[in-house]
Amino acid sequence: MKILITGANGLLGTYLLRECIKSGHDVLATGLGEMRFRPSDFGFRNEDADHWLRYRQLDIRDAMAVRACILDWKPSWVLHSAAWAQPDICETQPVACWEVNVTATRFLIEAAKEAGSAFLFMSTDFVFDGNFRDWGDGQVWLQWLTGMQ
Ligand SMILES: NC(=O)c1ccc[n+]([C@@H]2O[C@H](COP(=O)([O-])OP(=O)(O)OC[C@H]3O[C@@H](n4cnc5c(N)ncnc54)[C@H](OP(=O)(O)O)[C@@H]3O)[C@@H](O)[C@H]2O)c1
Repeated sequence: MKILITGANGLLGTYLLRECIKSGHDVLATGLGEMRFRPSDFGFRNEDADHWLRYRQLDIRDAMAVRACILDWKPSWVLHSAAWAQPDICETQPVACWEVNVTATRFLIEAAKEAGSAFLFMSTDFVFDGNFRDWGDGQVWLQWLTGMQ
């Protein structure tokens, strides 16, 4: 299956990438910076890297780039793990944090919807502490997040 991962350089993204590759999926890994993982991290020889590891720099705040990337790759799934993941930094820079964690997520969801891709959004135990169980199927939260109907 074709999969696109955002935040592939990150803690969760690298883990997702490893699991997707192990399972034989066709993966486009994306990140803000340059690729920081090595083919050998996934058991590949460096010379095989181009064949097995597709990596593209993608700033998810760039709506046009996000749309172009997703419509070009047409993944079955978008696994969205790019984020500002440190609450203390988010609290001191709320506007910049919102741009990445909310507005850019919306760009990704809209492009995924257009491409017909399923979308997996990572939340956090800062939001879901494991005690409150009445989240339904997530639609309420997702609609609040994206403003989409
Ligand atoms: N780690 C955990 O234990 C944990 C637990 C629960 C939930 N989560 C959730 O999982 C998600 C990822 O967390 P993480 O720990 O993997 O965070 P992380 O290691 O900080 O990785 C986040 C990634 O986001 C990318 N990123 C930031 N701004 C971007 C932008 N404008 N465009 C594209 N990519 C951008 C960064 O890319 P570059 O590195 O290329 O700059 C970075 O690799 C978050 O939503 C977090 O709340 C994580």
